[in-house]
Amino acid sequence: MKLENPFPEYGYFGAEYFCDREQETKTLTEALRNGSNVMLMAPRRIGKTGLIHHTFERMKAEDKHVQCFYVDIFPTKSFSQMVKFVANAVMGRLDTPSQSVRRKLSSFVAALRPTMSPDPISGLPTFSFNVVPENARETLEQVFQYMKESGQQCYLALDEFQQVSTYSEIGADSFIRSIIQFVPNVHLIFSGSQQHLLADMFMSPKHPFFNSSQIMTIGEIDADKYREFANGFFRKQGREMPEEVFTLLYNMVDGQTWYVQKILNRLYRSPKEELSQEAVNRTVGIILAEQEINYQSNYNLLTENQALLLSAIAREGVVSAPTSLDFILRYRLPAPSSVKLALKSLQDKEFVFQTQKGEYIVYDRFFGMWLKRL
Ligand SMILES: Nc1ncnc2c1ncn2[C@@H]1O[C@H](COP(=O)(O)OP(=O)(O)OP(=O)(O)O)[C@@H](O)[C@H]1O
Ligand SMILES: [Mg+2]
Repeated sequence: MKLENPFPEYGYFGAEYFCDREQETKTLTEALRNGSNVMLMAPRRIGKTGLIHHTFERMKAEDKHVQCFYVDIFPTKSFSQMVKFVANAVMGRLDTPSQSVRRKLSSFVAALRPTMSPDPISGLPTFSFNVVPENARETLEQVFQYMKESGQQCYLALDEFQQVSTYSEIGADSFIRSIIQFVPNVHLIFSGSQQHLLADMFMSPKHPFFNSSQIMTIGEIDADKYREFANGFFRKQGREMPEEVFTLLYNMVDGQTWYVQKILNRLYRSPKEELSQEAVNRTVGIILAEQEINYQSNYNLLTENQALLLSAIAREGVVSAPTSLDFILRYRLPAPSSVKLALKSLQDKEFVFQTQKGEYIVYDRFFGMWLKRL
């Protein structure tokens, strides 16, 4: 697919528009090929979903027999909804040349009583599965059995996997774990950004997923590689971004992929403009102005203590000890116990993020800049 703007802010559009991640793609591919399930855990907007699509695309290009399924379970509110999403992604997709296998597989599909309707674009029949809560477990078993019977190497990504911990059904996670144990040709990627929930699921001995998956994380794309990638497109417009300009842009947003992409996307729209530091600053100003209403309403929803603390973290940039006397006095914050409470709720709302070093930052980099300018 040819893109008008080579810096998409959403979605995956093929290797041409995907920067680097060579090592990460290799690590993920090798883990899956060697039979591991993988827990891919990293902060929001860094590029987890893109990496999954990129890896799947590579794996399919290298071996046309592998089957890859990507399911984003973020919108699901219950286990049965999740099963429905998975069934719709998988069932009916494993066509094999062998008649006997095909017959067996179609009986699985039929057992789930799909509704059939023509695809509005291609006209081909498409299935849609409705999962009733009473049969959700059985249906998920059938979906895995279907993949097992197909005999093909199947890779299933469940993105935003932390969603599972919000389902009211008890034991959804241990049930998933118990099924996948017995399906050797199916390997899963669990992916998500809510590190405390996922860490609890995959790293706590109490939990069914403990020790069951290889844990993987990804960080920022290397700045030099990103600049080269971006300049590949800018050169086609007859211009180039100097190193110090890219460094400014990259550091402004801590190298976080989505934010870098968003600024590059904007800059690309004005092909006559010089790619200078002023242009970067102006572009960021425009982005913040567009989000003004959102930021203002987010800010208005905070309690006074939360607002004070969030602004203080934004102005400081990175805070290692938010309850220290020094920090509290500098920003006229309330008592440490109140700061602690406010911090907890800012983290729960994903306004504040705790880095691996244990430091606190404003999670949304653009919101952070806006707060700093208040
Ligand atoms: N390697 C890459 N090269 C270029 N753009 C990328 C790359 N990885 C991700 N992106 C872009 O960055 C944005 C965020 O990526 P993605 O959606 O994969 O992040 P994520 O970690 O899954 O985020 P979330 O936690 O919010 O789901 C997308 O617009 C995507 O197109
Ligand atoms: Mg994602």
